[in-house]
This record gives sequence, structure tokens and C-alpha cells, in this order.
Amino acid sequence: MTGTSPAVSPLDSVAFRRISAVSRHLGHRSEMDSQDQSLSLSKTAGHGFSVFESINQAPEDPILGVTVAYNKDPSPVKLNLGVGAYRTEEGKPLVLNVVKQAEQLLINDGSRVKEYLPITGLADFNKLSATLILGADSPAILEKRVATVQGLSGTGSLRVGAEFLTRHYYNRTIYIPLPTWGNHPKVFTIAGLSVKTYRYYDPATRGLDFQGLLEDLGLAPSGAVVLLHACAHNPTGVDPTPEQWEQIRQLIRSKGFLPFFDSAYQGFASGSLDTDAQSVRMFVADGGELFAAQSYAKNMGLYGERVGALSVVCKSAAVAGRVESQLKLVIRPMYSNPPLHGASIVAKILGDRNLFNEWTVELKAMADRIISMRKQLYDALCSRGTPGDWSHIIKQIGMFTFTGLNTEQVAFMTKEYHIYMTSDGRISMAGLSSRTVPHLADAIHAAVTRFA
Ligand SMILES: Cc1ncc(COP(=O)(O)O)c(C=O)c1O
Repeated sequence: MTGTSPAVSPLDSVAFRRISAVSRHLGHRSEMDSQDQSLSLSKTAGHGFSVFESINQAPEDPILGVTVAYNKDPSPVKLNLGVGAYRTEEGKPLVLNVVKQAEQLLINDGSRVKEYLPITGLADFNKLSATLILGADSPAILEKRVATVQGLSGTGSLRVGAEFLTRHYYNRTIYIPLPTWGNHPKVFTIAGLSVKTYRYYDPATRGLDFQGLLEDLGLAPSGAVVLLHACAHNPTGVDPTPEQWEQIRQLIRSKGFLPFFDSAYQGFASGSLDTDAQSVRMFVADGGELFAAQSYAKNMGLYGERVGALSVVCKSAAVAGRVESQLKLVIRPMYSNPPLHGASIVAKILGDRNLFNEWTVELKAMADRIISMRKQLYDALCSRGTPGDWSHIIKQIGMFTFTGLNTEQVAFMTKEYHIYMTSDGRISMAGLSSRTVPHLADAIHAAVTRFA
């Protein structure tokens, strides 16, 4: 309707002011106001004013907005290193072979129906997901003290876990690493938790600020929730060593913190599903409680299927049962029950020995390609004599490299070289290929030389 009305009539402007005032006070309006609003609405129907006239334009998401800008760039050499999605050597999205096979098996199975799943999701999928993250011989699984629910990928699983904590846990403060995935503070805040940070990354060494981490968590009040990236920390690519994990575990347990693991990259970091789950398993082995959110976006390439899981490891089977019953009350009014297709694919793959083995091979190939991109980029910078120490590129792990490039250098690379990345200098190694490494190395070299 906007733009179709001719000159603004006096009635329009009165109505417009009224509607603006009402929408400014949305959420605090009285019954009287809503009567006013519907009166104004009926008067303005067809006159081109929206009840949302005074709404502000929201900013783009800082990560997904990179792709929006990239899509608008007509340059043939443009390169998107912003979004964390795997690309082949040819720069194409990858559907794993094993996923195609599982989908074919599902299609061929004429007995399948499209009924709703239970609130907690597909039972087989939940069992297999808990086993994948905790290990087949996990005492918590054997003792039936794990409550697992299917989630809407990693994000949805984090959100359900956070909302459960807001309702049922006495300490509503969550400590998250600084920096962390940009969505973490938003997910936790909106679920009702109060977010604080602990030091994690040291820009001087481009590695872990282990001392800072121990100091900050040492000062945190006992009982706080602590968010930990199970592996392949996003955005830094910096993980604690096994010895450091052990120290972190001791501190967390001694202060009665509740660990909340975010596992978005199991198998994607080292190429081994077991190695990448070690941090979580260490905390299960001590008999303590924890939360773990899993995502199958990266390790099975099921980004758009939105498939993940939330597991709560409890002290007893009885508590796990009650936790599950309360998780259902969180989920039901949020999205009722989760989608069927992605979970069916995952359950097929995890539940079939041959498909599972094939998956591990494909997963390792993705991890290895990323590791090889790290080496190629490092070599390319060394051969150009780019100022600075770039060894962090090969020391960091997982999908991302935290390059250490500053906002000015990033802006320069986007403007002059059409290379897109988040303004904190994070690049997705999965978006690189042997063909594009030289272009990126040239851009980094020029940026670093120009803006020392
Ligand atoms: C650390 C971390 N957690 C969670 C997610 C959530 O991903 P998804 O909701 O697509 O599974 C991501 C995705 O980039 C991530 O990097």
C-alpha cells in the first residue's frame, strides 16, 4: 500500500502520529490504548500507514551479513571467507556421499510416514547422539543418567538448555569465553541467563590466555554455568591442550561450576570423532554433571536440516528422567516438536556400521583438506616474506583461523581484493582452495605492509 496514497490528508497525519505513539509504547499499552489503536487502524485502512511505521531497521547479523555483502559484489575474483560452511576444492558446497545413501534408503522405505515426532525427537537419534559425544562405554549412558533431546541444530540445543537452566538452576550466570561465537551471548541472554566473560585468547601470542582463564574462572562465584567449546574454538581456532583441559576440569569441579559444552565441530577439528570429544568425556569420567549441545551441521554437512541434540548428564537415572520431563515443557511451547528428516538421516548413518565407517572417512577428508589449506596459506605468506609471525595459522585448529588482522586491514582487503570475512579478522579455512590461497596471501601481504 505504501506509496499509493496521494497527498497526506489531515486525517492521515493525526492517525499516523497516534499509531506511532502506540507502537512506541508497544508492550506497555493499556486496554484504552488498544481501543485507540484499533480505532485509528480502521480510520487509516487503505491510507498507506503501517502500525510498524516507527520501527527501526535492524542491523545485519555480523556473520551472515558478510554473505549478504559478498552476494552484492560483481567481482569475478571475490572470495567469501565469512561463513562457516565447508566448500570443496572447487569452492562448491558438499553433500556427503553417506548422506545421499542414507536419504536414498529413507526414500526406498515405503513404510515411512510423516507423522509428528515426540516432543523430545527421534528416540534412536537421541541414543546414538549421546553415544557419539559421550562414547559407547560411557558410565553415564550405561547407568541411564543422561537425558537427551533432539534440538534444532547446535543453536536450538543451546537455547533449550539455556532456557531450562533459567527455569531450574539456582545460578543464572553463564561465563562464556572472550571472544566466542557471536550468537552465544544473544542465545543465552534471550533465554534469561546473565552473561559474563572469562579471558580466553591472548592477541599477543595468538594462543590461549590460560593464566587469564584460570584467574577469571577462579574469581567467578561458585555454581556459575561455564560455557566451553568442546573443540575447534570459534572464532579463534585455539583449544586447550589435554593437560590444560585437566586443570580446567579440576577448577570447574572444585568451584562447583556447571559445565555447558558446545560441540559444533566433533570430528571436524582433528578428523577423529573420539579425539574431538575428549574434553567432554573427561568431565563425564569424574562422575559430575554437565550439559552438551551437539550440531550435525558441519560434521555431516547437514547445515540446513537443523539437526542437533542436547544431552544433560545427571547424577542418577531418576534425576535424568525428571530433567527430561521438564525439557519437554521448555520445548513444547517453543516449536512443539523437532523436524523428522535430518534426524532420520543421522540415525541411519550412526546406526549402520558400514555407513558410519564411510562417514568417518569423508569427515576426515574434510578435516584434512582444511589442515592442508592452513599449510598452504602459511607457506604462501612465508614465501612472500609477509611481515610477522604466521605460525598460528598452522597451530590453530578447526574451521577458522583468527588471523590477527585488524578492522582496517579487513576493510582494505574487502575493498581492494574483494575478500569477505568478519571484521575481527576471522577467516573460514573451509572456504579456501589451492586456487584461491595465492589471492588471499597477496591480500594479507598488502594489508599488513600498508597498515603495519
Ligand atoms: C561454536 C558454535 N556453536 C554453535 C554453532 C551453531 O551452529 P548450528 O546451529 O548451525 O548447528 C556454531 C555455528 O557456527 C558454532 O560455531
